Amino acid sequence: MKIAIFGTGTVGQTLADKLAGKGHDVMIGTRDPAATRARTEKDSWGNPPISAWLTAHPGVKLGTFAEAGAHGELAFNALAGHATLAALGSAQASLADKILVDISNPLDFSKGMPPSLFIANTDSLGEQVQKALPKTKVVKALNTVNAYLMVDPGQLAGGDHSLMICGDDAGAKTSVTGLLREQFGWKDIVDLGDITNARGTEMYLALWVRLWGALKTPTFSVRVVR
Ligand SMILES: NC(=O)c1ccc[n+]([C@@H]2O[C@H](COP(=O)([O-])OP(=O)(O)OC[C@H]3O[C@@H](n4cnc5c(N)ncnc54)[C@H](OP(=O)(O)O)[C@@H]3O)[C@@H](O)[C@H]2O)c1
Repeated sequence: MKIAIFGTGTVGQTLADKLAGKGHDVMIGTRDPAATRARTEKDSWGNPPISAWLTAHPGVKLGTFAEAGAHGELAFNALAGHATLAALGSAQASLADKILVDISNPLDFSKGMPPSLFIANTDSLGEQVQKALPKTKVVKALNTVNAYLMVDPGQLAGGDHSLMICGDDAGAKTSVTGLLREQFGWKDIVDLGDITNARGTEMYLALWVRLWGALKTPTFSVRVVR
């Protein structure tokens, strides 16, 4: 399948690695492909530069946001929250009638750690993405776990933990649920309902960042016990 991944950070790289490894034709979207390929500095987490990652993954394509949107039959948004709306806006036409899995969180690091949310309570970034791309089927998913758990939930508790998703299009949620199960191995996927439920999964980040601080590891998750 042709897949677009918006974002060159840890999430974009981790998704691209997994999906390309499973034989999918992946293009990552970035602001300036030439500048991204020329980067030599480590990322903000001290990981090797994206140029080194691209060299190690010759099968993964790199393009502008518009080029990635045109490439993908299905797309993932792994952009910084503050950049999401403007960047996806440049790919709007190419995303019409396609599914966009929105992983972004509206985190505001401007006042240090832990970050706050720049959208909350009565709105969410997921809703704003759906409003900005009315012809695209937005499914909010994967934003509640760290990048490595997204594509390999089995590394924790044998995969016995829960993922919450939401979105307005039932068919899109069925497709994304199938992809999450078959490509990544998720077992317990809870459909919260329409895209307004992104308020819940994004506001969970207020707890997530505090658990991260307390546990000193991002490799944790929650299990919904019925
Ligand atoms: N890291 C995790 O484990 C994790 C877990 C759950 C959810 N998330 C969410 O997933 C998203 C991606 O996280 P991440 O850690 O992989 O990467 P990130 O550092 O949050 O975002 C990197 C991406 O944002 C783009 N970007 C930054 N500023 C921009 C601007 N002004 N205009 C356009 N694009 C801009 C970068 O574009 P360039 O390629 O051009 O540099 C890059 O592709 C975030 O919303 C985050 O909250 C992350």
